[in-house]
Amino acid sequence: MQGGLRERLSALESEALEELGRAGTPEALEELRVRWLGRKGRITRELQALGSLEPAERPAVGEAANRIKAALTELLEARRESLLATREERELAAERLDVTLPGRAPRIGLPHPLASALEELTEIFRGLGFEVAGGPEIETPYHNFSALNIPEGHPAREESDTIFVGGGLLLRTHTSPVQIRAMESRPPPLRIIAPGRCYRNDAPDATHSPVFYQIEGLAVEEGITLGHLKWTLEQFARAYLGADLALRFRPGYFPFVEPGAELDVACIFCGGRGCATGKGSGWIEILGSGMVHPAVFEAVGYDPERVSGFAFGTGVERMAMLKHRIPDIRLFYENDVRFLAQLA
Ligand code: PHE
Repeated sequence: MQGGLRERLSALESEALEELGRAGTPEALEELRVRWLGRKGRITRELQALGSLEPAERPAVGEAANRIKAALTELLEARRESLLATREERELAAERLDVTLPGRAPRIGLPHPLASALEELTEIFRGLGFEVAGGPEIETPYHNFSALNIPEGHPAREESDTIFVGGGLLLRTHTSPVQIRAMESRPPPLRIIAPGRCYRNDAPDATHSPVFYQIEGLAVEEGITLGHLKWTLEQFARAYLGADLALRFRPGYFPFVEPGAELDVACIFCGGRGCATGKGSGWIEILGSGMVHPAVFEAVGYDPERVSGFAFGTGVERMAMLKHRIPDIRLFYENDVRFLAQLA
């Protein structure tokens, strides 16, 4: 072999090894492999050049080139493996999870306290044989007033702070129009409750909200008396607020009942001694009720000579406030989760 050729090969080898030492990533190694050992790589070209050598020189040069090629291949492979191992170690270290850290519990949704109250109240009346009826929140003045014996010009129309929505319609001010719709749609006997949203143009304060919930009740058949009303409402009040609750019925006026009565409970805050909640009286009103007025039966085509009935309406927020000692109705509508979660 010519001295020049041998020297060139060994120079090539040290150059390759030096580059190998500098290649710091698997990608750099691959690039190096292609440049030296690839189809057009420098070692490959050296081997291809064998053909132009003197036949006598070929074996020695070929052997030297092949040795360099084999050595380089092996070194490349070893280096690649070690680089990959280092990289994996680094990645694992970066992704390390501390499985001993305490978990973060997901927040679980809860029924809104008003939804729970509605559900509970509805269940009590279901147990007393009432079925649930519904009606629209946007009502006609006829269903909200006239059919309930509140004709145009009646002071009760002005008192109820109605919100009108145009087209002669209004947002129902109570759930009593559902009474009318239920009786219009079927003959007696009938025993329904109607839970739902009502609207009044009231400025919000601790006891008023322009949107609030009522539960209406209506029982109509032959022979219904004030005694049935009293018993039913006592059962209901005691089931929801407590069995040893002091109650009192008091005459009350609503145009659609005669006689009318309001039901009071002894104040849960002062036990009846008298405080601001009961305006000093020691009693809190929880519902309006009475025997259905004959004019209402006539409006829906029921015969007041044949059937009688009782009706009542109670505020859902008011009931829940008493039961859970909630001081302000606005808490139901502000949706502060700290309040909501307490009642769940
Ligand atoms: N609708 C009345 C109100 O909103 C309550 C009521 C219902 C009174 C049924 C008597 C009978 O105040």
